Amino acid sequence: MIGRTFVNKLSILVLHGPNLNLLGKREPNLYGNVNLEAINRFLNEEATRLGVNLTAHQSNQEGQLVDWIQQAWGQHDGILINAGAYTHTSIAIRDALLGTKMACVEVHLSNIYKRESFRHHSYIADIAIGQISGFGAESYRLGLWALVDYLQKNREG
Ligand code: DQA
Repeated sequence: MIGRTFVNKLSILVLHGPNLNLLGKREPNLYGNVNLEAINRFLNEEATRLGVNLTAHQSNQEGQLVDWIQQAWGQHDGILINAGAYTHTSIAIRDALLGTKMACVEVHLSNIYKRESFRHHSYIADIAIGQISGFGAESYRLGLWALVDYLQKNREG
């Protein structure tokens, strides 16, 4: 509804998976020079502009990512996730997203379809609202916009 204002701010959880703590140093030809701290900083700035709350976590542990997804239930409205290599292997992360029915957008810095064939399959893609892949650190900003736009259009109440 145009002009509608909501009492509660939308809340977004950003999850960064394994090796993304190395951004800036790790294979810059593929992942760029922007480090994770800088990505989280511009995501927070973007969230403020969009009028949403944002919390970001990174872990190299699959189980930790599953725990955060489970804990997001009732706490956050949507998840922006770069599951790193777990994208291509983790049924547990897929099941956590399915089990909690969290709205999610999948992002990747690199274009996973231009890379090795084992990166072409994502266990998240078909249960996500959508996927953004190949725009470097900007994939996160585009993903945040897409997720917030979706949540605002589909918000109940
Ligand atoms: C990645 C792509 C994955 O294939 C890889 O394992 C990563 C990063 C990306 O953002 O491009 O760790 O998710």
